[in-house]
Amino acid sequence: MRELKILFQNNREWIRARLEKDQVYFSRMAEAQDPLYLWIGCSDSRVPANEIVGLEPGELFVHRNVANLFPHTDFNCLSVLEYAIDLLKIKHVIVCGHYGCGGVKAAMEDHHLGLVDNWLRNIRDVYARNREELDGIPDQKERTNRLAELNVIQQVLNICHTTIVQGAWERGQSVAVHGWIYDMSTGGLKDLDCCLSNIDQVESIYRIRLSRKKTTS
Ligand code: CO
Repeated sequence: MRELKILFQNNREWIRARLEKDQVYFSRMAEAQDPLYLWIGCSDSRVPANEIVGLEPGELFVHRNVANLFPHTDFNCLSVLEYAIDLLKIKHVIVCGHYGCGGVKAAMEDHHLGLVDNWLRNIRDVYARNREELDGIPDQKERTNRLAELNVIQQVLNICHTTIVQGAWERGQSVAVHGWIYDMSTGGLKDLDCCLSNIDQVESIYRIRLSRKKTTS
C-alpha cells in the first residue's frame, strides 16, 4: 500500500486538470525550462514562490532555505546561482523575505535550537551591523520585521559580491538583483528598492575584475 495516499490522489487530479486545459502540457514541460527569474526565498510553507507572483511551472527557478539566506560560502546557494546565470541565463534574481519569519525571530533570541543556530548566525551579523537602527525600534514585532528587511538587503549584496554575478556583468550579460519582502497577512509584496544591476553599485572593496587574473606571486 502506498503511503500518503491523499497526495497521490491530489497528483492524479492535478494531472487531469492540467491535461483538460492543455493536452500537450506535460510533453512541453519535459522538453526544457526557460525561466527569466531566480527566486531565493524562505522555506516557510506559507510563502509559495510561484503562486505569489502568478508564474507557471517552468517560469521561475527556485531556491529556498531557512530565512532566505545567501552565505557567500554556501555551495548550494552558489551552485544554484551559477547554474541560473551561466546556463539558464536568467535576467533577474529576486531575494524575497517575509514578515513574521521564524528564522529572523530566532536570530534575535538566545535559545538553542540546533544546527540552525549556526545558519542563523548570518542574521545575527546583520543585526550587529544595524544595531543602532534596530535597537531604536521599541516594538518587538516591528523590530523583527525591520530585521527581515535588512536581512534581505544583505543577501542582495552577498549575491552581488559573488564572482558569478560580477562575471556576468563583466561579460555584458544583464542581471538585476532585487530585494523584496512578502506580507503573509495581506498577500502583498513590497519592493525594498535595493536593486543592483551593475558593478558601479557595488562597494569597491567587493569588486573583482575577473579578466584580471593574477599569474605571479
Ligand atoms: Co521565514
